[in-house]
Amino acid sequence: MTNLTRSPSWQALKAHQKDLSQQHLRDLFRSDDQRFARFSLKQGEILLDYSKNLITTETLSLLLALARETKLADWIEKMFTGEAINFTEGRAVLHTALRNRSSKPVLVDGRDVMPDVKRVLAHMREFSEQVRNGIWLGYSGKTITDIVNIGIGGSDLGPVMVTEALKHYEKPGLNVHFISNVDGTHVAETLKRLNPESTLFVVASKTFTTQETLTNARTAREWLLRSAQDEAAIAKHFVAVSTNAAEVAKFGIDTAHMFEFWDWVGGRYSLWSAIGLSIALYLGMDHFEALLDGAFDMDEHFRTSAFENNMPVILGLLGVWYNNFFDAQSHVVLPYDQYLHRLPAYLQQLDMESNGKRISREGETVDYQTGPVIWGEPGTNGQHAFYQLIHQGTKLIPADFLAPVESLNPLGDHHRILLANCFAQTQALMQGKNEAEARAELEQAGMSGAALERLLPHKVFPGNKPTNTLLFRKLTPHTLGSLIALYEHKVFVQGIVWNLNSFDQWGVELGKQLASKILPELTKPKTSTAFDASTNGLINYYKS
Ligand code: F6P
Repeated sequence: MTNLTRSPSWQALKAHQKDLSQQHLRDLFRSDDQRFARFSLKQGEILLDYSKNLITTETLSLLLALARETKLADWIEKMFTGEAINFTEGRAVLHTALRNRSSKPVLVDGRDVMPDVKRVLAHMREFSEQVRNGIWLGYSGKTITDIVNIGIGGSDLGPVMVTEALKHYEKPGLNVHFISNVDGTHVAETLKRLNPESTLFVVASKTFTTQETLTNARTAREWLLRSAQDEAAIAKHFVAVSTNAAEVAKFGIDTAHMFEFWDWVGGRYSLWSAIGLSIALYLGMDHFEALLDGAFDMDEHFRTSAFENNMPVILGLLGVWYNNFFDAQSHVVLPYDQYLHRLPAYLQQLDMESNGKRISREGETVDYQTGPVIWGEPGTNGQHAFYQLIHQGTKLIPADFLAPVESLNPLGDHHRILLANCFAQTQALMQGKNEAEARAELEQAGMSGAALERLLPHKVFPGNKPTNTLLFRKLTPHTLGSLIALYEHKVFVQGIVWNLNSFDQWGVELGKQLASKILPELTKPKTSTAFDASTNGLINYYKS
């Protein structure tokens, strides 16, 4: 056994789960009219109702004991103070410094990084204002109407999710597009709607060596040059965001037009850095800084609140509870806000690239489940698609419901209908419909006898399905910043409990290495025999 599964709190949680699994959430609500007050928290504009979870106060105290046993408080401090907790890459983990809105220094190897952070923010403001105010012009003197971010993974998903989420705050006449997939369709379909004279490309890549991004950027450069016929146009239409000035220069982008960030910013935590340039260009620097402010508020809450009132800690521990003690394999994120439609995709990288690991910090194979499969879609669409399985399937799928109290598009009854659905779903998942209720309904509908008995089991909902509801006042840049930081810290908490390094991603390397061996094979005329039978078969079928 590992230290974790051997620990007293883990063992106590195992025993407690056995007791609790005899109880139904319905009964827990019936026997405690203070359950909502007991199990809800407010932080800034966000209310977390976690009362519809399979927990009692005892569950919570055992989970909090587990957090203490894993020295969570020490790890939080290590992260915020720039210790190299990403030890497999020898790096600090300081996305929180990017949104440090206090005047306090943040030291990496004894050096305050805040002057650099502020310098890049000022550069982003200056540049984004030039573009947005029509001062920055394309090669033929046209103002910029279209921003195209070329990046992938963390250099894409954050900016895509945020620009979609905050579309309401866009400047009319300025559009944003994202090219990530190396499939030529992505770049072709994006560029065919654009005019090179008024298009600005932001090539976003931490390493500036990512094959997909560089391939797309080269294609975009050729597209521009076909129109401009002059290499000097590149400087007006290409800027780079990277930690790697040498590679940026090699690509042909003037490093004066490079926005820098640092190796202590992980890719999936980088939207707060210059990787957010496309956000700043599209929404304006004031909105970008409001996003940082919102994240900073959540950082302060995470760093300073007692664990029992600490939203990321509570969410993280609840996830551990289902993942490790109820064998839940996945976690679904259900935004009841169309603007948040890319949030599940963003959280997939944040969570699965961080905690999709099986080796502990000591280098041992773990004997417990780690990161869950994250998935989701906007709320009511999901209701008509996959909710069936959550309600009546054989799997336990804990869910997060997110919804704004106020809509940014208050049209007729839309928002009340949306919220009624959101609240009804968590209620239905919690209480279910027992046999007596289902029977009474069928009888009321005039059914009886064998016909009723045949239908009855299909009409029963077991309920007892756990959900969190996150209600926020409305979707502002500030609130979105807090929500994203909330999930980042939730993932951090879980990584600490599971004793993982949540900040590397070696699991993506093998496929990259093999792709680089397969690529030259695809152009060789002779039959391929270099690989296993399946891989050879596929390559040869393609060639034929
Ligand atoms: O695929 C792994 C990964 O390294 C992600 O972690 C990262 O966000 C993405 O690739 C893109 O990397 P880069 O910003 O260096 O192009």
